[in-house]
Amino acid sequence: MKVDGTAYRSIWLSDDGWSVGIIDQTVLPHRFVTVRLETLEDAAVAIETMQVRGAPLIGATAAYGICLALRAETTDENLEKACERLAGTRPTAVNLHWAIDEMRRALENTAPEDRVSAAYERAALICDEDVETNRQIGVHGLEIIKEHAARKKGGRVNILTHCNAGWLATVDWGTALAPIYMAHDDGIDVHVWVDETRPRNQGAALTAWELGSHGVPHTVIVDNAGGHLMQHGKVDLCIVGTDRTAASGDVANKIGTYLKALAAKDNNVPFYVALPHSTIDWSIDDGLREIPIEERGPEEITTVSGRSGEGAVDSVSITAPGSAVANPAFDVTPARLVTKLITDRGSCPPSREDLAVLFPEKA
Ligand code: MRU
Repeated sequence: MKVDGTAYRSIWLSDDGWSVGIIDQTVLPHRFVTVRLETLEDAAVAIETMQVRGAPLIGATAAYGICLALRAETTDENLEKACERLAGTRPTAVNLHWAIDEMRRALENTAPEDRVSAAYERAALICDEDVETNRQIGVHGLEIIKEHAARKKGGRVNILTHCNAGWLATVDWGTALAPIYMAHDDGIDVHVWVDETRPRNQGAALTAWELGSHGVPHTVIVDNAGGHLMQHGKVDLCIVGTDRTAASGDVANKIGTYLKALAAKDNNVPFYVALPHSTIDWSIDDGLREIPIEERGPEEITTVSGRSGEGAVDSVSITAPGSAVANPAFDVTPARLVTKLITDRGSCPPSREDLAVLFPEKA
């Protein structure tokens, strides 16, 4: 997507042919800063500190992290060490493990002297495939938005989204936002309710910035406003992303997603989840019990960061000193609350049987 007229992906190979460029998402929307990753540790820390975040982008960064590790040493031991280091960075997004497995498969039978070039080749392909995958999600999701637009006879279609599942969370296009960009570009009158998404405010900071940069009408709301808006007929549909979807259709996504799905069910608002094939965890059926939920640091709750009137970006404390805090970063929305999954192979009800029709090779 474009930033001030220049086309960007969220991750790229630098002109030197080996280091990796990313956008530092911790300082958006106040500053647009790019960062060079030069080592495995740079890549791992970028994932841990959420300079890069969003399930597909975490996977793509891990793929390049393995390239950077192999530049230092191409042995089996070093490959395994790199995979382990990266796999431990964030627990919930399954795309991380998917990308590491893809890299391992491409490299384990490759002679050490050919490993660096093979790794860069596979990492670049993972990125290119992600862009095409998300474009396909956009195409299938657009059909759904078109149905809602037809029902509203051309009236404005109001879509609620949570967290950031836009191009910044993937290599390009996004998952939940891909259909919205396509609908907007197609001339459909779409408006997006953007949940601010505490504690890190990926909605207020990233989704709003993305949508604004592309000219998509949107309004930022506090996380607790969605239910009220649904009760008053102001939300036509919800579209969110996911970090891991069980084969049963249970969906892990940013904390607060479950409450939006409950409110949507109570108000007959369709609740869609957009995801690439790399986000489906075919090995599990009970999302609630089997998806690991990341617990993040207390400072994400006790402080908020923002820009002061003078322009300085700072973090301020907001909780009573000494209060205990808990920070589960994701929750699981049971399949029964999901209207449809929008995948790169088409849309389907959230169940193992229906997913298997779209992905017969996994059945
Ligand atoms: O903690 P984050 O910012 O990595 O969480 C991101 C989300 O929850 C997204 O909704 C999800 O990764 C889908 S991104 C295409």
